[in-house]
Amino acid sequence: MTKAKALPFARHKYADGSFKKILIDGKWVSAASGKEFESINPATGELLATVAEGSEEDIDRAVIAARRAFDGPWSKFKPFERQEILLRLADLVERHFDELSALDTLDMGAPISRTRGSRRRALGMLRYYAGQATSIHGETIHNSQPGDFFSYTLKEPVGVVGAIIPWNGPLGAAIWKIGPALATGCTVVLKPAEEASLTPLRLGELALEAGVPPGVINIVPGFGETAGAALAAHPDVDKVAFTGSHVTGQSVVKASAGNLKRVSLELGGKSPDVVFADADLELAVAGAAMGVFANSGQTCSAGTRLFVERRIYAEFVDRVAEFGKRLRVGNGLDPETQIGPLVSEQQLDRVTSYLDLGRQEGARAIAGGTRLKEGALAQGYFVAPTVFADVVDDMRIAQEEIFGPVISAISFEDIDELVRRANSTMFGLGSGIWTRDVSKAHRLAGAIRAGSVWVNCYQAMDPAVPFGGYKMSGYGRESGLQHVDDYLNVKAVWIKTA
Ligand code: NAI
Ligand code: MG
Repeated sequence: MTKAKALPFARHKYADGSFKKILIDGKWVSAASGKEFESINPATGELLATVAEGSEEDIDRAVIAARRAFDGPWSKFKPFERQEILLRLADLVERHFDELSALDTLDMGAPISRTRGSRRRALGMLRYYAGQATSIHGETIHNSQPGDFFSYTLKEPVGVVGAIIPWNGPLGAAIWKIGPALATGCTVVLKPAEEASLTPLRLGELALEAGVPPGVINIVPGFGETAGAALAAHPDVDKVAFTGSHVTGQSVVKASAGNLKRVSLELGGKSPDVVFADADLELAVAGAAMGVFANSGQTCSAGTRLFVERRIYAEFVDRVAEFGKRLRVGNGLDPETQIGPLVSEQQLDRVTSYLDLGRQEGARAIAGGTRLKEGALAQGYFVAPTVFADVVDDMRIAQEEIFGPVISAISFEDIDELVRRANSTMFGLGSGIWTRDVSKAHRLAGAIRAGSVWVNCYQAMDPAVPFGGYKMSGYGRESGLQHVDDYLNVKAVWIKTA
């Protein structure tokens, strides 16, 4: 075990080197088992902190606290008061943003330029949901039943929400669950990913400072198979909001069957990014490259199946490869770094095994294709931005989510055939279209089976625009007006007026 490095937020660390523990009912407590696990900086392989390892017992304690808060004090909060709390939390996140973004960088590796750059989105999201808190309303309905009736609907919080998040954007992912929960009057038990618990735990501290009452937000770090599975199966959790892999999503759905809790799933993808010969190619090169290489390919909607029109294929993929080779890969704390490490040794093994597989399948790595080990990079989990050319549709590197900086470049000729091929995937999360032809763009935007279509851009996001999947990329939408509906029940009330 390497020695824990001094963190920029030393005051959150206990004298024994451990980090903040588990947040239950407004208090920081140890795991029932007393166990802790290590959080590693993926850029250096060094120990950052030890984190309390929550298990079924801790999840149970947290759910009891969340239920008590839901039935008790929290239910008395007016929408306006919940809005004020969310706005105070947003102000605190803004004031501490440099610290939170550094914590994300240290814990999961993303370049500081990226984590700092997410400022507007994170704050925008909290303030958007704050706005939603006072905009939730039912309807009055004219019904046709004999006799005189007046009917209306009430929208009520669904109850205790289990939020299970991944490691690829810990701050944003936590806010994406906490925002709608607080806006609607739900309470939350949040289970961060074991690879990146530090930012969500710090967010928990800020939530208390913002005046979130005890039990409204509980945070239980721990492993997926234990803490995560216990939360997904818990009989007193009303809804699980899950973001992660489709395989884990399937076990969450199975675990939910016991009490038929509501589930929303934000899962992975193998998104098609389509470049036509008539596109602004300079824009398309950068967009196609960063649509995958950003965050070292660890984004759910990465445009990893790059379809390029045949007559520009060779030139275009060469330009994307050149773009990839010029990216500065390194420790995310360096402001010059564009591409950081992968999150963990496990993720490194997974991605490098796909690099080997790609070559075995007959694809040609025209950029990258290997782990990077020069100098200080050897200590971390770095993979070179990779472009595989000569990829055909049924190769595994064209079908499976790699979650690394790997582009599989495929050529196409005919647009109808392209639609069929672009949709030949079990996923349906993102998609990109690069063209100057507006008819082609609209036609394709309608034909692609995916939750988001980006035309002449990639991975644009906004709190007001819904995001989510078709097919095995999951169900439910995050962001947008509809998002809070996932956290609400609709009650119909009938009044006989005669
Ligand atoms: P994962 O889906 O297993 O982990 C995501 C979250 O689910 C974590 O908090 C984890 O602790 C929790 N979890 C794991 N098993 C669980 C269970 N049985 N019940 C309840 N919760 C559970 O993903 P992992 O293992 O971190 O990464 C593996 C692959 O999944 C990646 O290589 C990538 O392909 C994909 N992935 C996709 C993400 C996306 O946003 N689309 C995010 C993270 C991973
Ligand atoms: Mg870590």
